[in-house]
Amino acid sequence: MKILFTCLGNICRSPIAEGVLRKKMKAMGLTWQVASNGTNRYHKGDAADQRTIAVCHDHGVDIRSHIARRFKTTDFSEYDHIICMAEDVFIELQEFVTDKNQLQKVQIISFNDPWYGGQEGFDECYRAIATYCDTLLEELLANKN
Ligand code: 4NP
Repeated sequence: MKILFTCLGNICRSPIAEGVLRKKMKAMGLTWQVASNGTNRYHKGDAADQRTIAVCHDHGVDIRSHIARRFKTTDFSEYDHIICMAEDVFIELQEFVTDKNQLQKVQIISFNDPWYGGQEGFDECYRAIATYCDTLLEELLANKN
């Protein structure tokens, strides 16, 4: 099973989701693969935002080695589940679609972008994503696909 989280910049929301899910999977002994990327190119090659690194660190998740990547069309075949972190991410994802069947793997969730705010927004975002990841794991384990 290969799971991909996609946000806009790949420096805030999707790196949190990747780190949280990986930690939870490790605790459960699951060997699925999890990755993240972003629809825009502005932060490609960058580390995660310092506020992202800080909130993850507070929760025992080390994402200091994260390097932002941009979504590419081959990701549609590479991953089993592609999770867009917000509606605008899904809209930007359309640019990479070459066959509408690719969208069958895509789910949209809705997390506010914490980028413009302070550390509290990142703390809130982390908690919401962690709760979501519990539900996602339950669903994936129930479907085993
Ligand atoms: P993210 O947050 O999509 O959660 O990584 C953003 C970070 C940077 C930008 C947009 C969203 N940006 O446009 O620079």
